[in-house]
Amino acid sequence: MAICLHRVTCDCDVRRKRTYDLKNEHCVVTGGSSGIGLAIAIQSAKMGANVTIIARSKARLQAAKDDISTVIKNSQQKVLTFSVDLSKDPNLKDIVKEAEDNSGPITMLINCAGTSICHRFEETPIEEFRRMLDINFLGSINMTQAVLPYMKERNFGRIGFVSSIAGLVGIYGYSAYSGSKYAILGAAEALQMEVQSHNISVTVSFPPDTDTPGYAEELKDKPIETVRISESAGLFSAKDVAIKTLDDILNKKFMSSVGFEGLLLCYAFSCMKPSGSFLEVIIQ
Ligand SMILES: NC(=O)c1ccc[n+]([C@@H]2O[C@H](COP(=O)([O-])OP(=O)(O)OC[C@H]3O[C@@H](n4cnc5c(N)ncnc54)[C@H](OP(=O)(O)O)[C@@H]3O)[C@@H](O)[C@H]2O)c1
Repeated sequence: MAICLHRVTCDCDVRRKRTYDLKNEHCVVTGGSSGIGLAIAIQSAKMGANVTIIARSKARLQAAKDDISTVIKNSQQKVLTFSVDLSKDPNLKDIVKEAEDNSGPITMLINCAGTSICHRFEETPIEEFRRMLDINFLGSINMTQAVLPYMKERNFGRIGFVSSIAGLVGIYGYSAYSGSKYAILGAAEALQMEVQSHNISVTVSFPPDTDTPGYAEELKDKPIETVRISESAGLFSAKDVAIKTLDDILNKKFMSSVGFEGLLLCYAFSCMKPSGSFLEVIIQ
């Protein structure tokens, strides 16, 4: 029942004990070839789901497919990959149809593809603001619009958006990134009102700093002020973030956090946000 709140160097094996059977389910993970997305794809496959991952690099997609294939529970499970640049406003309808024809109805979509930059506001060109919006925000919206009609038709689905702690609070150096991640919360909140009558749940996850290839890249030219601020919160493993995010999506929680600080921040900012239980309403 508890999740390890420790740093990535911690060997503690405390994990959420609850497990779900996702047999005959189909989980689509954008950004599923690396980092948090890959960890989510692996956890979904471990629970028995057919998994489809979407990203750009074919080599990384193939490597991820090999990793996911090693954890599947039964030989019937399918692992599918699509190489797509989600920031370029692609036509995703054909991809969604092909994925469904191959691996069955999509029951869970997790929008994880994204990237970050960390520069002071005045040192961030407008093109970078646009690039953040294109992939972090519009990429997720485009994918969700392609999958939603199928979920609505079947009156069932779960949609997850991976935002960031920086999508809840603006942090020094993250003006472009934070802007794109804040946008997700507004869109997701409106979306959940529209789809809850169709038995479709929406979850927004706000991970803290997580040990991934993307995080390592971001570290290379972070302003020192951002490094100092981030140090206090520690670094989490992609596996822990994936387990908690999936758990919250499967439990239809609207806001998903990892770690104690993340939980406090979510409660601090949850005023008027959808809540899943009476206890949550009281805490809010
Ligand atoms: N790591 C952290 O500390 C942290 C904290 C909070 C939130 N997050 C969020 O979590 C998500 C995953 O981050 P991560 O650290 O795991 O990053 P990562 O290791 O760099 O993985 C990013 C994934 O997104 C894909 N991707 C990037 N741009 C894409 C595009 N234009 N079209 C399609 N796919 C694209 C990448 O594959 P290709 O490059 O091959 O396309 C890769 O599969 C992001 O949304 C990030 O903002 C991360």
